[in-house]
Amino acid sequence: MSDDPTSRSGAPEAKLGRRSLLDLALTATAGGVGAMAMIPALRFASPPPRPPLGATGVVAGRRDEFPERSAKVVTLDGEPVLVVAVPGGDLRAFSARCTHLGCIVAYSAEREQIECPCHGGRFAADGRVLAGPPPSPLRELPVVLRGNEVLVVRG
Ligand code: FES
Repeated sequence: MSDDPTSRSGAPEAKLGRRSLLDLALTATAGGVGAMAMIPALRFASPPPRPPLGATGVVAGRRDEFPERSAKVVTLDGEPVLVVAVPGGDLRAFSARCTHLGCIVAYSAEREQIECPCHGGRFAADGRVLAGPPPSPLRELPVVLRGNEVLVVRG
């Protein structure tokens, strides 16, 4: 008989193999549990990106890009939208299509009104018709602040 333990009936070798497998399984399990424990910390360190706004509206810009009596035209669903920082600082958004024949309106900070260049239609900063042929007010769209972002949401 040999003194080599591996040559005896294979038992120590089998035990060593099972022990190694058990160690490997425990190490893998501990590593998996450790990795799972890191997920909340990683999520905190790197928050998920905000969902795209395309389904609900459009980002018009940062809030500080809209000083009082300023305006900007953005596009939502291929249509122009006029975002106006009215006197007092509130933000309002309107379809920029004149309700007369569809020309694109613009905000006049000097006169604090929305004007149509085609036939002289004029609208108040709240979209009401002031003068000219437009038959109805400008269609208003909701404006929402998300942090420092100004969002125009589908109405
Ligand atoms: S299209 Fe605006 S007043 Fe005619």
